[in-house]
Amino acid sequence: MAKVVGVFSTHLYQGSLPGNPALNRALSKDVEDFSAQDKLGQSWSEENYRNGYTSYASLSDMQFRSPTFAKFSDLMQPHATKFAKSLGWELKGCHLRMTTCWMNVMPKNSYHTLHLHPHSVISGTYYVSTPKGSVSLKLEDPRMPMYMNAPVRTRGKNNSHYYVVQAKAGTFVLFESWLRHEVPPNQSASPRVSISFNYEIEEND
Ligand code: NI
Repeated sequence: MAKVVGVFSTHLYQGSLPGNPALNRALSKDVEDFSAQDKLGQSWSEENYRNGYTSYASLSDMQFRSPTFAKFSDLMQPHATKFAKSLGWELKGCHLRMTTCWMNVMPKNSYHTLHLHPHSVISGTYYVSTPKGSVSLKLEDPRMPMYMNAPVRTRGKNNSHYYVVQAKAGTFVLFESWLRHEVPPNQSASPRVSISFNYEIEEND
C-alpha cells in the first residue's frame, strides 16, 4: 500500500461582506472624493503605479479617516481573527490590528507587479467595483525560488505556479503577508476599484 500525502499547503481565506451593494456605493463615493483631493497620492501614483491611482504612499490609514472605511475595518476584523485561528496562530495576550488600509483605482492597462507586504502578518484585498474585464489577482507559488531542476508539470487545478483569485465586487481574499502576488494589466473599460489592507500582531491593552 502507498499513498500521496500533501504537506505545507498555503491557505487563503475568501468571503464576502454583508450588505455589499450599499457598502460598495459608500466606499466608491469615498474613493472618488479622497482620491480627487490626494495630490501627493496622484503624483506618487504617476511615478510608481502606472496608469492608475493608489493611496498606498499617501492615505494608507483610510480606516481612521472615513466612517465608511472604519465600518469596513470592523466587518473585516472577525474574518482576520478566524483566518489566524485556522492557521493555528497562538495569539495569547495579543490580537490582530488593521494597521494600514488604502485604495486602488486601476483603469485599463494599469497593473501592479509582483510584491509582498513586509512588516505585517495578514494582508488582504476587498473588491469595490469590478466592471467586465477586470483582471484577477495572481498569487505565486511560494516554493518558486526552490524550483531548480523541477520537471515541467501538466497544467491543472492545484498544479500551477500561480493561483488566480477572481476579482468580484463584494468579495475579499486574505493571505499571509509573505505570499507574493501581482495584478496583471487590467482589461476593463472602466476602472477596477479595490481596497488593500494589512494586519499586524499587537499586544492587548
Ligand atoms: Ni499587494
